[in-house]
Order: sequence, then structure tokens, then C-alpha cells
Amino acid sequence: MDKLIIHGNVPLQGEVRISGAKNAALPILTASLLTSAPVHIHNIPHLHDVTTIMSLLGQMGARVTLHENLGVEVDAGSVNSFQAPYDLVRTMRASVLVLGPLLSRFGRAEVSLPGGCAIGTRPVDQHLKGMQAMGVDVCIENGYIQAQAKKRLQGATIVMDIVTVTGTENIMMAAVLAKGQTIIHNAAREPEVEDLANFLNILGAKITGAGTSTIVIEGVNELGGGSYHVLPDRIETGTYLAAAVITRGKVKLKNTRPDLLESVLLKLEETGGEINTGQDWISLDMKGNRPRAVNISTAPYPAFPTDMQAQMMAVNTVAEGVGIVTETVFENRFMHVQELQRMGADIALKGNIAICTGVGQLQGAPVMATDLRASASLILAGLAAEKETVINRIYHIDRGYSCIEEKLSQLGARVQRMAS
Ligand code: EPU
Repeated sequence: MDKLIIHGNVPLQGEVRISGAKNAALPILTASLLTSAPVHIHNIPHLHDVTTIMSLLGQMGARVTLHENLGVEVDAGSVNSFQAPYDLVRTMRASVLVLGPLLSRFGRAEVSLPGGCAIGTRPVDQHLKGMQAMGVDVCIENGYIQAQAKKRLQGATIVMDIVTVTGTENIMMAAVLAKGQTIIHNAAREPEVEDLANFLNILGAKITGAGTSTIVIEGVNELGGGSYHVLPDRIETGTYLAAAVITRGKVKLKNTRPDLLESVLLKLEETGGEINTGQDWISLDMKGNRPRAVNISTAPYPAFPTDMQAQMMAVNTVAEGVGIVTETVFENRFMHVQELQRMGADIALKGNIAICTGVGQLQGAPVMATDLRASASLILAGLAAEKETVINRIYHIDRGYSCIEEKLSQLGARVQRMAS
């Protein structure tokens, strides 16, 4: 398994290009199952999770062609298998996003039930409840969700018990070819949900309200083809900005959108970072100063994202003062705490609250990545630490950060990948 070796204590300086959003690209790729016409998707990030979803579509009989310049063409006209097998779902929970499109277009799907994962139990009960409301028979057999509809899915009014991103996306995709109107109340408002709706509308869907907590879908008989550009990754953006904060550096990020991460920018500004923005760029300058600690509490969009919690905790470990981090979305998303402590961080855990007292300087140490965002926080800590940090199990990072060593090196970081 590859390791990442970082020699830290270097302020990051320079410019970097932000990739397309992983959490928009994945549902958009699965949504291409809703049409028999070819679709072209641009600004696809070069990530392991994207490769996994492309091979899943391929296994189902879709023709998937990777083009130069981050483009993918999917032709789902030849789909002849409706199964997402355990081996793929086990490595990537987002595979469950094939459920809605398969049921909407073919009336059947067999999807391995995702198990728990490093950050929590993550059930899919809300996805299934929505499908059942649209007339789908669902049963769990041998670890698989066996779902079948005797006739075309029926539009329904669905009130989500909790705000779920992929749950909202799955139900929205199921409703696209259903008969009549579907209303999703208490829908997730994440920009990636809106991006998926924009893509579907280009193909001929009739979706309004995406980006708000009530989404209305008027079912149509079929979708056509089309071309779409995936929105920029707000979490990758936030992570590089946090890297500038923790190293007291100055970076400019291009091909991104400041309007996607207002809550994150406000917190980064509170640390002392001077932020400037244009329509498609963000710059942050720490002017060489030590960051100030900030309190954060994660919640669904537009509040502070759980996917930036670990990175902000890393910032707090070196900051001036005490920062209180509250995780409300996932029950077990503090796996990075013990690893940060190995680097000298002062963090006290009380249930879903982490109290971080800034220590000024971290020390390099061998550490282990446990999930995607935890890996990102360890990289940030390593960039700020004295001497060498070796991050084991770095494969997690390749699931969500495109060309991370290249991008960090472009900013002056001393980072090297080693195969072991
Ligand atoms: N939940 C349920 N029942 C459900 C669905 C969700 O109880 O049927 C719970 C979850 O266990 C969790 C909460 O609801 O406690 C919110 O989970 P959500 O369903 O919103 O998460 P997700 O859709 O599985 C997406 C992102 C995650 C991101 C979360 C929260 C994708 C592919 N994944 O996951 O991204 O953390 O939303 O914003 O969109 C990441 O990129 O590192 C990542 C984990």
C-alpha cells in the first residue's frame, strides 16, 4: 500500500486548479442510466471512485468512453444487467445511486446493501422508503436490496425523516420517469443535488426547486442525450484553503466557485486568512501569521460541511486558542483525532465534541489514514509539522483528491508518494 511522505513546515505559495466535484460526478454518471441516448459529461475528476462507478456502469452493459480533457461519454442504450454487486458497493457506498435510475427506467434493481463504514453506520432506509412510496416492492435477501416495480413508478409526496444527500438524489432520479408528480420535502440542499437536477433537466427531465428543501419532479416518458459540465469541488477547494491557513501561506485557487462554500470561507476568515474572490477563483493570504482557533458545528448545507470537519480540526491543532468542533452528521467521524494526537495535538474528546487547544507546532510522525477526509486532515497536519510525516494507507485520498501530490508540489510542498 502506498504511503505519502511529507517534509513539513513550508508555507504554501502559488496557484492550483480545482477539479470537478466527486459528489456531483458520481450521481451524474449513474443518472446516465436513465436514458438510452449518449450523454457527454465534462470536468470529471480523475479519481478512484469515478473509475469504480464507470466500471459498474460497464458491467451493467453501458458503453463508457473516456475522452481527453476530463470528459466521459456514457451510452446506456445497451444496459442488460441490473445488479450492483457486493464487491463494488463494499468499496464505494455511492454505488447505491444506481438504484433510483434502474428502477425508474427498467422497474428492477438488485443492489448490495452497503454495510457500515469508517465514519458511521450509514443506513439507506430513507432511500428505500422513497422507492416504496413510488410503488416499488423492496426486500432484503442475502445481503442484497431486491427491488421491483410491477408497473411504471408512480409519483408520490415524500417527507424525508432526515436530510440525506444521496437519499434525495436517488429518489429524485427514480421520480424522473415516474407517472405524475413527485414532491420531496425536507430534501438535501447541497449544490451537488442541484447540479444533478440541472444535468437531468438538460436531458429533458422536469425538476424544480433543487437547491431548496422542496423539490418537485414532473415525471416524463423518456429522457434524451446531452452534454454537461460538472460543478467544481467545494471540499477540494476548502481543503487547499485550509492548507494555506495551517502553513501560514498564500494560495490562489482557480476553476472554483466561492458561492458554493460560504460557511467554510467565513470560518477560514475567522482564522485570520485574508480572502479575496472572483467569479471563478478564491485567494487566501495568511500574511505569515499563526491562525486563530475556530468553533465549528457540522450540519447539512448551507451550514458547515462534515466533509471539512477533519481539515478544520487540523487547523485548530496549531492555532492560537481553543476551538470546539461538534460533529452532528455522522456518529463516528473523529478517527483522525488519535492520529493527530500522535503528532502532538492537544484534543479532548467528549462524545461528538472535540475540544482542540492549539499547540503552535506539530511534530512529524508515522500516522494512518482511515477515511478520505481524515487522510486530508493528516496531510494538512504533515504540511505544518516539523520534520517528516509518513501517512500510511494513502489510497483513501485517491478516492477524493485528484493529483494531490502534483497540486501540493505546485504550491511548494515537499511531498512524495512511496509504494510499499
Ligand atoms: N442516513 C440515514 N438513513 C438514510 C440515509 C442517511 O439514517 O437512508 C443518515 C446517515 O447515516 C448520516 C446522515 O443521514 O448520519 C446524513 O447522511 P447522507 O445520506 O446525507 O450521506 P451520504 O449521502 O451517504 C453524502 C456524501 C458524503 C457526505 C455526506 C454528508 C456522496 C457520494 N457522499 O453521503 O461524502 O459526507 O453526503 O454531506 O455524495 C465524502 O465525500 O468524504 C463523503 C463521505
